[in-house]
Amino acid sequence: MILFFSATGNTRFVAQRLAALLEDETLNLLDRIKRGNHAPIHSEKPFVICAPTFVCEMPRFLADYLRKTPLTGSKDAFFIFTSGGYSGISGVLAGDIMRKKGLRYMGCGDLTMPRNYIANDHYPELDTPEIERRIRTSAEAIEAIAAAIRNGERLKSRHVWLFELLITLPFNPVWVRVRQGVGDFHATEKCVGCGKCARLCPLNVIEVVNGKPIWHGKNCAHCMSCIQNCPVEAIEYGDITQKKKRYLFEKYRYASGKNN
Ligand SMILES: Cc1cc2nc3c(=O)[nH]c(=O)nc-3n(C[C@H](O)[C@H](O)[C@H](O)COP(=O)(O)O)c2cc1C
Repeated sequence: MILFFSATGNTRFVAQRLAALLEDETLNLLDRIKRGNHAPIHSEKPFVICAPTFVCEMPRFLADYLRKTPLTGSKDAFFIFTSGGYSGISGVLAGDIMRKKGLRYMGCGDLTMPRNYIANDHYPELDTPEIERRIRTSAEAIEAIAAAIRNGERLKSRHVWLFELLITLPFNPVWVRVRQGVGDFHATEKCVGCGKCARLCPLNVIEVVNGKPIWHGKNCAHCMSCIQNCPVEAIEYGDITQKKKRYLFEKYRYASGKNN
């Protein structure tokens, strides 16, 4: 079974493509994460867990979810991480979590996809040809990953150096606390009060009050689901995002079948 979380569609695409190649089914974890539903997930086929990279790790809320949720049936767990080019220590954490659950960690695949993070100015905006190149290259790489999974071969993960672990483990929580507050998210007058942002928020940080979303609490993972999926582009982050193009996988050629 292919389990996935995806905020802007990159990882959903990977999961669905793998499912088609492996003749397996997908399970979108969004609803389970939102509801804190930790009922066991059973699969006779290997588990393939697909996730984006957040601040050099697998999203912490997903790691927590996997720790608490029994995975029954198959003993093998493969991981696939999508990222904007650096998946950091995601594979090491995945291996640790799976071994503690008594599962066999079968390595991870890394796919460089368009970067979806727009709430700071650190990353240059990618142009459309580069976005489409990344999607196409990843789509090709998925074929080899699927073949390895089908043959029960361990995926060849990138080597994670000790210094990466030593830097990332303390860096991630500090960065999230200092640079990823919810205070700067707001809806503009364009908001139509559809509530899509609240429905898609994995951590239930958004509440629609009097027809407008408000962000509260300390739990936000900055997954970009709200801001990128808003149908009228009414969500902004401080004064950083006003001129930034929104990213969703489904807006690009590959998603509409023009390139596959
Ligand atoms: C909070 C956050 C942190 C991110 N951190 C990284 C990172 O450390 N390295 C990287 O290469 N990409 C990073 N990205 C980019 C995403 O991992 C990448 O765009 C991913 O494919 C998005 O997947 P999705 O469309 O399935 O949500 C980050 C994105 C977000 C939202």
